[in-house]
Formats: sequence, structure tokens, C-alpha cells
Amino acid sequence: TILILDFGSQYTHLIARRIRELGVYCELLACTVKMSELKFKPKGIILSGSPYSVYDADSPHVDKAVWEMGCPILGICYGLQEIAWNNGGKVEPHDKREYGKATIQIQPGSQLFAGLPNDITVWMSHGDQLSKPPTGFVPVAHTPTSPYTAIEKHDSQIYGIQFHPEVTHTPQGSAILRNFAIGICKANANWTMASFVDKEIERIRNVVGPTAQVIGAVSGGVDSTVAAMIMSKAIGDRFHAVLVDNGVMRLNECQNVQEILQKHLGINLTVADAHDLFLGRLKGVTDPEKKRKIIGNTFIEVFEAEGAKIEAHVEQEGRGKIEFLLQGTLYPDVIESISFKGPSATIKTHHNVGGLLDDMKLKVIEPLRELFKDEVRALGTIMGIDEELVWRHPFPGPGIAIRILGEVTEAQVNIVRQADHIYIEEIKKAGLYRKISQAYAALLPIRSVGVMGDKRTYEQTICLRAVETKDFMTADWFEFPYDVLKNISSRIINEVPGVNRVMLDVSSKPPATIELE
Ligand code: XMP
Repeated sequence: TILILDFGSQYTHLIARRIRELGVYCELLACTVKMSELKFKPKGIILSGSPYSVYDADSPHVDKAVWEMGCPILGICYGLQEIAWNNGGKVEPHDKREYGKATIQIQPGSQLFAGLPNDITVWMSHGDQLSKPPTGFVPVAHTPTSPYTAIEKHDSQIYGIQFHPEVTHTPQGSAILRNFAIGICKANANWTMASFVDKEIERIRNVVGPTAQVIGAVSGGVDSTVAAMIMSKAIGDRFHAVLVDNGVMRLNECQNVQEILQKHLGINLTVADAHDLFLGRLKGVTDPEKKRKIIGNTFIEVFEAEGAKIEAHVEQEGRGKIEFLLQGTLYPDVIESISFKGPSATIKTHHNVGGLLDDMKLKVIEPLRELFKDEVRALGTIMGIDEELVWRHPFPGPGIAIRILGEVTEAQVNIVRQADHIYIEEIKKAGLYRKISQAYAALLPIRSVGVMGDKRTYEQTICLRAVETKDFMTADWFEFPYDVLKNISSRIINEVPGVNRVMLDVSSKPPATIELE
């Protein structure tokens, strides 16, 4: 394991991504963690970048024991300055900030740059720089404005670089990280998805024990399906998956999900049909936040009631008690809650069925908490989950209720369902589904005049949304070929009763959001 200590840089999670891509397992912890509290012995430590300057009064610093761990250390950007600050070097604000691409000259004899060309392009983003290297360190790379872009101390195996190897703008970045993790730290490159499944199944069996039962909500999305699949492999029918039909899922979605999870994947699934309850409570509600609250609270209520039924049944048969709640938490959520954010940081609670834990006194079990989204997809594929499900666009918990502006009624839900179905079908036919990060149809309850046959129509509008994004925090609208749009529009207007106009949303996020509500 490589330990990454986070000083709050926006790129820290990318260090973890790059290391994992090398097949090396790594864990990310806040920079302030005490070495005595570690649950593993790291083969190497990476110190991340930071928005701070090492000389700021409130700047973060590592536990002094880091220097006594006896494993190689690599400092990146602020990490390099942290090394200097602790080991007798000198860091100063430089009048020439280096930001963006730069070419560095590598000096012979470097271990970090072994096998690389003499000049490489790197990505810089720093104001402070090293003006005197710490005792015993030798410079191994420079730029015209900074003589100590990279330093090394071979006897104690400490390395520092001023640039960011983790971003794609440093093309040789992965090679540098490989030199460190595999070449210098001698970490094992055996982190694969297949080995992950076996280890995780073993871990779950140990945690859950021989009789306890586990319950978890599934949605048909890739995260909950993969999590459920691992659970099911680990403990079979002692895992109870619950799919809540909230009345605002897509066309035939509930049946499709049931078919795949139960029949194809053999997961022990119960469907709680509560669509009348949800739609009844949504009656007359137009405020987006109220819709979300109603759906969230009703979901918890229905899930708990279903859990109680399952529990009664299991207990009656003398098969133990439900003791655990499965959650599909991913590593980005975990990082979000453990990253270093300074003294005033509030920790985000990242579960979405919070009430359950208090009422049912369940312990949380999270098989995906070490994985990134693309690793979950790879895992899904290995476990034999259909490609279509593995690559499904995200779908929000409140479903199409937040894609119907104004009141959510069964009739409005039906219109969106049909339009969305045609839209996605045509996107797939055109081979664009995987290029788009998220696409959906929404209903604008605005009436406008049209003509169909010889008749005047006065009907509602469908809004098409499609975005490209990496992290869903910012997004660009997707540029459709016109012929695809033409097809979609004419099919929706011809095939969906109640719609006589189709519009395309060309707003980026920010300032718009991906969902309309
Ligand atoms: P926005 O609209 O905030 O959406 O740009 C960003 C991403 O989050 C999804 N989203 C939700 N997912 N419950 C969810 O599970 C929600 O209440 C919710 N609201 C937005 C949205 O679909 C997009 O992928």
C-alpha cells in the first residue's frame, strides 16, 4: 500500500487514480493523521499539493513520525515544500509564478526520472519555490526560473517535485509515479478488480458472520447493482435487496430492473410497489425542494416498512436478524469526507437513507468504498453484469419528478416516460450514448399552438438535455449532429400524445445545473 497524505489540493484524488492505474493499491488520508494510528504499514508515502504556503501561520504539517517511517517519501508541489520546511531547506515566494506547461531539464543520475528523456513537459501550479535545498538533497531537474524543480536524497529515499505528475498535462507523469511506487518503493502491482472481488467477499463474510442478515436498497444503477452482486456472492439469500417503485422511474424501468437483478443476476430481491403513495403525496406540489423532501422521506418510510416485513419473516423462520445496511458509497464520497479541509472543516455525512440507521439500528456495510466509478464499472463487467447497465447514465433519486416542471401527475409522468424512451433509444441507435455523460427528456408545462393534420393543437413542450462532464460538478451541453436531433424531434411529436414542440437545452453548468429542478 502507498499512503497518500492530503494537504487539500484539488488534484489529490488524481494521485490516487494514477497509482491505482499502475496496479498498486493506495489509500488517501488527511495530512494530519498520526502515523501511530495507521492500520497498515505503507511501502511509500506521497505528500500532496495544497492551497496553503508552508509559511502560513495556519498551514498544515505532517506528523513528525512520517520522517521515521523508514519508507520512501515523495513530495509533490506543497509536498516538496513540506519536505524542505522540515529538513532545513528554504522556500520563498517567487516573483515569477509558474503556472501551466513548462519544460524541465533532467540531470543525470536521478532515480525518479530513470528511463525518461532529458527534457520533459510538466504541469506547474505554484507561487512559492525552493530557494535552497534541504541538507543532503541534490537537485535533479530545473527550469530557467527555478533551479530546484526536483530534488532527491538517495540514502533516506526522499524525493520532491515542484510540478504535478498526477494531471494528464504532465504526459510522463505516470512513468514518474511508476518509478516511485514500483521502482523505488517496490510496491506490489497486483491490485486488480478480480483480486478485489475475492478479498471483498472474504471480508464481508467475516464482518457479517454466519447468521446475520443484510438489507440494501437497489435502483438499477451500476453502483447499487454491483454492491448487491458482491453481497449476494458473499452471503447469498441472507442479503435482501429492496427496489422501491416510487412511481417516478422511467418507462418499464421497475420491471426491467427486477428482471435483470432477480433472473439474470440471481439477487434476492423484493419490489415494494409504492407508486400510488408517492404520487398521492406529490399531488399539488410544484416546489422542487418540496418534491425532493417528499420523495426522500417517503422512500425511507417505504424502505423501513419493507425491512420490517422482511425481518419479521426471517425471524419467524429462525434465520437470524437483519443487522447490516448495504450502501453503495464510492471512494470519491469517502475522500470528500476524510480530505484535509483545515480546522473549520465540517465532515460531510454521505449516506442517503440516514433515518434508517437510527430506527433500525443497523450497521453500514460499504463494499465499494475503496473504488472509483470506472473501477466499479470494470468490476461490474467482470462480474457479468450487462454492458447496458454498467454504462447507464446516472439517474437522480427523485427520478422524473424533478424533470416535470410544475405538478407531477400520472399523466405528466407518462408523457415524460415516452419522450425519454424515444430520446434515449435514438441516442443509442446513433452510437452516441457512451459519448454523452447524461441525457434525459423533461416536460415543460407550457402550452403552445401547433397544427397536426388539419387540426389546431395546443399542447406541452419536451425539453431535451444532454451533457458531457467528468465529475458532474461542471458540464458542457452536448453537440448533437442535426440529423439525430431531427429524428428525435419528429418521433417525439408524432408518437407522444400531448406534445407538439421539442426544445434543446443549450445551457452549461454552471450557471445552469444538469437537472432542471
Ligand atoms: P445537478 O442538477 O445538481 O446534478 O447539476 C448533478 C448530478 O446529480 C444528479 N442529481 C441527483 N442525484 N438525488 C440523486 O441521487 C438527487 O436529488 C439529485 N439531484 C441531482 C443529477 O442527475 C446529475 O447527475
